[in-house]
Amino acid sequence: MNKLILTNITLACFLAVNPASASDLASATYSNLVGKSGEIQLPADFRQHWVHLGSWVVTDAKAPGHGFHDVYTQSETVKAFHDTGKFPDGAVLVKEIRKLGSGKLTTGEAHWATDNAVWFVMVKDNLGRFKGNPNWGEGWGWALFEAKNPKVNVSKGFTESCLGCHTPAQKTDWVFVEGYPTLISK
Ligand code: HEC
Repeated sequence: MNKLILTNITLACFLAVNPASASDLASATYSNLVGKSGEIQLPADFRQHWVHLGSWVVTDAKAPGHGFHDVYTQSETVKAFHDTGKFPDGAVLVKEIRKLGSGKLTTGEAHWATDNAVWFVMVKDNLGRFKGNPNWGEGWGWALFEAKNPKVNVSKGFTESCLGCHTPAQKTDWVFVEGYPTLISK
């Protein structure tokens, strides 16, 4: 066997064991979860297959975000973030809000997640793919889905529905990274 063939076999083996490069992530995201004109879909079964980044609990019953917030992403996103400190193209962040159960348990006064309420979704876009689409901008696609019809994005566009509240996180690419131990500690 000559050297070139050997090198090619080694490369093929490497690719077979390491299929998930960053560009695979982008092509999977943009072919499975985003339509041709930028329509964002809620990923299915992310609780079973994605990485849990962290949780927030908003206990104030009058607050719009009252509930248990769990945030998930793909394992490739976590790896890329550990390597580069940035969200890779095609990263998807899902924040699932569930209603809050609470009561005194043997552990103490406890809060836990119950029924589904809404899902907030952000999709990283380094290429400015959907210029003019109100759900895309500032390097992300932005969407909101409700439990009563999880197929319809009910966001009115990211400037109206999302950006104002995310301004405190602008320096960290609009993401509240301090709440995600899985991302920021290796
Ligand atoms: C009322 C303020 C508010 C609005 C409106 C809002 N967000 Fe957020 N969002 C937050 C805060 C604060 C967090 C982190 C803390 C928490 O969940 O309590 C967050 C977290 C998230 C996360 C988890 C990743 C991260 O950035 O930390 C996603 C995804 C998200 N928001 C998407 C959206 C999208 C998409 C919209 C618009 C459709 C939106 N948000 C509108 C305040 C808001």
